[in-house]
Amino acid sequence: MTLLVNGQRHTVDVEPTTPLLYVLRNDLDLSGPRFGCGLGQCGACTVIIRGEAVRSCVRPVSQSQNVEITTLEGLATNGQLHAVQQAWIDEQVPACGFCQNGQMLTAKVLLDKNPNPTDAQIREGMKGTLCRCFSYYRINAAVKRAAQRRA
Ligand code: FES
Ligand code: FES
Repeated sequence: MTLLVNGQRHTVDVEPTTPLLYVLRNDLDLSGPRFGCGLGQCGACTVIIRGEAVRSCVRPVSQSQNVEITTLEGLATNGQLHAVQQAWIDEQVPACGFCQNGQMLTAKVLLDKNPNPTDAQIREGMKGTLCRCFSYYRINAAVKRAAQRRA
């Protein structure tokens, strides 16, 4: 099977039903996407496919061929952190950090669709991506900072 991940083509020999998350982590050595619940409920495993935040733990690898897949490792360009990544640093968002892959990629998708979201729109857009350390206030601030930086 051929996957296009962060601009690079990879050929992998795996069962078609294997979750995309397992292939990214185990076969391609990408540690950005995390295994949280494995049930599509927490968002730790998020990747971006066709401009949407996708839960890679419940997506079979066979449905992920011939599409551009972006992981956290692919967010920076030419050595420059993405505005979301820089805002996350500036606001010191992570606590344990486990959920933050999903938070940052979900924030990127949100800002790509709505470059200047209100607090309510940020809460709505981020609400399915869970943080057991309750970093939601800093996430909200970082999304706003990233929006300003992009503007
Ligand atoms: S690990 Fe995929 S949604 Fe929780
Ligand atoms: S920072 Fe610990 S789960 Fe979100």
